[in-house]
Amino acid sequence: MVKELLKINDLKVSFFTPAGEVKAVNGISYTLEPGKVLGIVGESGSGKSVSSYSIMGLIDKPGKIVWGSITFNGKDVSAMNRSERLNFSGNEVAMIFQDPMTCLNPVFTVGNQLAESLRHKYGKISKEEVRKRSIELLTLVGINVPEKRLSQYPHEFSGGMRQRAMIAMALAGAPKLLIADEPTTALDVTIQAQILELLKDIQKKTGMAIVLITHDLGIVADMADDVIVMYGGRIVEQGSVYSIFHNSRHPYTKGLIRSLPDLKKRGEKLIPIKGNPIDLLNLPKGCAFAPRCESCLKVCINHMPAEYATEDGHRTACWLYDERANNSGEVKNNG
Ligand SMILES: Nc1ncnc2c1ncn2[C@@H]1O[C@H](COP(=O)(O)OP(=O)(O)OP(=O)(O)O)[C@@H](O)[C@H]1O
Ligand code: SF4
Ligand SMILES: [Mg+2]
Repeated sequence: MVKELLKINDLKVSFFTPAGEVKAVNGISYTLEPGKVLGIVGESGSGKSVSSYSIMGLIDKPGKIVWGSITFNGKDVSAMNRSERLNFSGNEVAMIFQDPMTCLNPVFTVGNQLAESLRHKYGKISKEEVRKRSIELLTLVGINVPEKRLSQYPHEFSGGMRQRAMIAMALAGAPKLLIADEPTTALDVTIQAQILELLKDIQKKTGMAIVLITHDLGIVADMADDVIVMYGGRIVEQGSVYSIFHNSRHPYTKGLIRSLPDLKKRGEKLIPIKGNPIDLLNLPKGCAFAPRCESCLKVCINHMPAEYATEDGHRTACWLYDERANNSGEVKNNG
């Protein structure tokens, strides 16, 4: 039996722009087990969205997956035929976004759009069944008087309600995996908290896995089982939520966590670490974080660090955990 629901192996995604090849994702690997919540954090432009869109087949020209594989339930996503692909994106895996209007069509009623998602999942189902299931879905996402709401258009919904309607549409296919890309960033704090409680609740009820992309470390601490920290299109650290917050190893992660006044508080956004963001058109030969790293060694400048498994399941891509670098007596470069 396949244990992982999702397995990403050495994924590389580039955008071929007139200025050159933008290496947005540079060889990331991770696995996700059924029913788990994986938080992905990292500063703007670190490749969080691009790596997740790749799972859904949403990378368009000039973007291209140039290397690696994505396996879902043991099946190679790139080898799926058209009907498998259709079933995969929408039914097996669904995605929600910061802006619900990415998913909701302003010219159709919410009921019409839910019906379409349900038909995508169940094929020919009766009108009565569609109505019954649509009402169930709107109730599940906490929309009151769902019978009335079905005949309304998205503009008749408030921002928070649109977010709920988008989640209902994503759930129509009963996905095994939900990818949530900054789902609450645009909402005010009270509505954010409600939507996150809703996602947690639904996750418990349905047992679906979630990939949760966010700038908010408080949300990650609250919701995720495991965490991936990205920098410059790579995973610099990954581990359980406990080990990332209480025993982080990578200088970038340490900097992020140090800058948090209170982890338990939501709304604790990543504070940018000093120094310039990395140029994805001209990636450095060595560690991408080197120009901003206070612990940088000479070896970091020209040689990419390998990944070091520092404890059960906790991995860090940093030279500091290589005995050879530590024994060589190298002086710090930036300190
Ligand atoms: N259509 C595109 N054309 C060229 N480059 C792109 C395109 N889409 C994304 N990129 C590049 O890919 C990099 C990674 O983008 P991505 O959207 O994954 O970042 P992110 O981590 O999700 O950031 P944010 O937190 O701001 O959403 C960006 O720095 C950008 O330069
Ligand atoms: S590999 Fe070197 S430059 Fe990169 S994070 Fe580790 S110590 Fe800093
Ligand atoms: Mg993004």
